[in-house]
Amino acid sequence: MHKSFFILAIETSCDDTSIALVKCGGSLKTPKFQAVANLVSSQIAVHRPFGGVVPNLAKREHLKNLPIILKKISKSYKLKTISYVAVTVGPGLEPALWTGVNFAKELARKLKKPLIGVNHMEGHIYSNWLSVQKNKKSVSLKKSTHYALRTTRPIRFPAIALIVSGGHTILLKMSGIAKWEKLGETLDDATGEAFDKVAKMLGLPYPGGPEIQKIALRGNAEAVKFPRPMLNQKNYNFSFSGLKTSVLYYLRDHKDSFDKQNFKADVAASFQQAVVDVLTGKTFRAAREFGVKSVMLSGGVSANKPLRDAMEEKAKELGIDFFAPEFEFIADNAGMIAAAAYIGILSKKKKLPIEAQSELTV
Ligand code: KG4
Ligand code: ZN
Repeated sequence: MHKSFFILAIETSCDDTSIALVKCGGSLKTPKFQAVANLVSSQIAVHRPFGGVVPNLAKREHLKNLPIILKKISKSYKLKTISYVAVTVGPGLEPALWTGVNFAKELARKLKKPLIGVNHMEGHIYSNWLSVQKNKKSVSLKKSTHYALRTTRPIRFPAIALIVSGGHTILLKMSGIAKWEKLGETLDDATGEAFDKVAKMLGLPYPGGPEIQKIALRGNAEAVKFPRPMLNQKNYNFSFSGLKTSVLYYLRDHKDSFDKQNFKADVAASFQQAVVDVLTGKTFRAAREFGVKSVMLSGGVSANKPLRDAMEEKAKELGIDFFAPEFEFIADNAGMIAAAAYIGILSKKKKLPIEAQSELTV
């Protein structure tokens, strides 16, 4: 039996400032996480005029927001009762990472608690195990709407994990909760980055993923035959830069249609469908090849409904369990960082140095 304890985690790798308090317990086979607080302060409005994240502005906002969020949490919870402080050390934007690292160092020193450095990508993987504690004491800055898909079924191994975010696209084969092998990754743009760049071409604001999904609802996904890069190659790597260029050329060649009704929606829907086909095709080819019991999706792009739906359907067809994070744990948040810290403690993972490591990999 593992006694449960609290981890206070800090996440500042990109443009979300987040602090979470998570009750962690259970074994590596059945870890249990309850996020009693998972506060996220989004900087979208600050970066939007620049069409993307500006690292020094992100740093300024993190510096401003971290003490505010911590104060909010300490009003409801005694920070003295926590057992560990955890912080994202990478990958991410270097100035942004340092603000979290320095804040966490100071806090751990004040509270006299050990500090754990966490890999952000591992946080995304473990976001699939998190749930919100539903009692009146839980604090949240964001309203959370839950996807019906989420259940408390245990995640069985072996499993395939696809992490799709603004900076990464990684496919892993997991033989256990803390054991994996990288099967492939993107050779150029990350999936979220491709969504953001295509959105920009269509005149949509940053971040582009949710905007593309929204306008694609009115479009025809078969209107434009965009390429499905690397779908039929026998490796597990991805490439989205060619697809993005195809959209650019298509828009250039159809300038006169730009303001026609449904033109943008058709392009968005067709682009989105190409991405969904590639991600689903390659993930489930791996799932079949390695005979896995589960497929799990995570990272910011896992908010994409057509992607979740396509993966869920394919999993059903093949008799594989499918998992995607609860809404609150999809985008960058500190709850997932606490979960990764706990798994790191139980699996006696090699400690990461407490310093910003912008290029850290899984
Ligand atoms: O994981 P995340 O919050 O931050 C990083 O670690 O990068 O991912 C952010 C990315 C952005 O590129 C955003 O456009 C994309 O996730 N995203 C989406 C959707 N919601 C967010 N992409 C497609 N469809 C969505 N609904
Ligand atoms: Zn992320």
